[in-house]
Amino acid sequence: MSGNPKAKQGVNTVWGGRFESAPDDLMTAINASIDFDCRLYAQDIAASKTHAEMLVAQGIIPAEDGAKIQDGLDRIENEIADGRFVFKSELEDIHMNIEARLGELIGAAAGRLHTARSRNDQVATDFRLWVRDALTRSESEMRELQAALIDRAEEHAATVMPGFTHLQSAQPVTFGHHLLAYVEMLGRDRGRLGDCLTRLNECPLGAAALAGTSFPIDRQASAAALGFDRPAANSIDAVSDRDFALEALSTAAIAATHLSRLAEELVIWSSAQFAFIRLSDGFSTGSSIMPQKRNPDAAELVRAKTGRITGALVALLMVMKGLALSYAKDMQEDKEPLFDAFDSLSLCLRASAGMIRDLQVDAKAMADAAGEGHATATELADWLVRELGMPFREAHHVVGRVVRRADELSCRLEELSLDELQAVEPRIAASARDVLDPLRAVESRASYGGTAPSQVRAQVARARERFL
Ligand code: ARG
Repeated sequence: MSGNPKAKQGVNTVWGGRFESAPDDLMTAINASIDFDCRLYAQDIAASKTHAEMLVAQGIIPAEDGAKIQDGLDRIENEIADGRFVFKSELEDIHMNIEARLGELIGAAAGRLHTARSRNDQVATDFRLWVRDALTRSESEMRELQAALIDRAEEHAATVMPGFTHLQSAQPVTFGHHLLAYVEMLGRDRGRLGDCLTRLNECPLGAAALAGTSFPIDRQASAAALGFDRPAANSIDAVSDRDFALEALSTAAIAATHLSRLAEELVIWSSAQFAFIRLSDGFSTGSSIMPQKRNPDAAELVRAKTGRITGALVALLMVMKGLALSYAKDMQEDKEPLFDAFDSLSLCLRASAGMIRDLQVDAKAMADAAGEGHATATELADWLVRELGMPFREAHHVVGRVVRRADELSCRLEELSLDELQAVEPRIAASARDVLDPLRAVESRASYGGTAPSQVRAQVARARERFL
């Protein structure tokens, strides 16, 4: 060790024992995570309190030191919650900021808290707790969005609109039926969140640096106190695993992809060319130059934020892919993308629910469009099959000729006279023209899960039971 007392200044008080001089400013800048991992403070304090309690219960540290630690940690939690705590980047991360402050508040007893643990099991525990909370919150936000979709679906169980494939008019459907498709997607998202929560819920605490500890700790007790189902089985895996974060992000990415598809439809439907819906003033913006504009910015941003949420998944996959076991500092890069992804997902879920709850439907515009593009051509083909016993392929061909005739005359299918229809297929009867009405078409599709209003109401009832 150098005899120069100045050289020792600024040496890290936690790990600086073997160091001669303080880290370079750039080292501090690249190493510090406090700017973002300060968000783990409540989890870090909860895990530290649990750990200290277990150390006392096991006779590893004296009870009076344990009591001081509990009291000091409570005070720190209040300081942080009230914004009175001073975070220092020289202290790298949330763990060392809290431990250093504990030392200022309670003195030497603070040094006993880190017995039988390491920042490696500490951060793995804190982060799991944070992700657990985030998944739980997302789950309830998804449920809220489902509730909004189900309410609007019930209201519009019989509102006819064009159904699309390839964004071309395909067959008429109801708006309620269409909205319920998103309820199913969100139901699967919630299922994925639940699966992720189940696998996540194992406690790394007590794995210590990687190898476990020689102290007689009680990992079962710590796990139970923090609401985990069990301690993580293997101490090396416990500190090197970030599958829970990857699973959470992949779940978030899939959910965001669903929201993006919904957002895209809101953008299309609210355009002047479609005019199926009008987003509320609360979820629209104006243009600084074109006074007539109502822009669907919230929907566009939901669509766009899917990029950063999926980006977060890819970022963490890349961080993890080449890491030899066990912990490596690379893993500190797990937090920012995940925090950002879940902040974004929460905003997207809440904004989507707001847009759905508020939007106004123009049922007439939807119904008019449902009759365009010969969207009931399949109905006529089905009539030929049903009433004349014609094979479907042949019926398809006959209706193709009918469609061509309507195009030649620039009219809709239902505007063709019976004579015109019979010129293509003489056996077509007047009753065939009834099936060309979009509402009739929709009502006839009463197969399970189909678009008939009766089915949509049944789906609404089942969705309420399954999801709300
Ligand atoms: N801030 C660190 C992280 O987020 C905590 C763990 C540090 N562990 C270590 N051995 N340096 O990963």
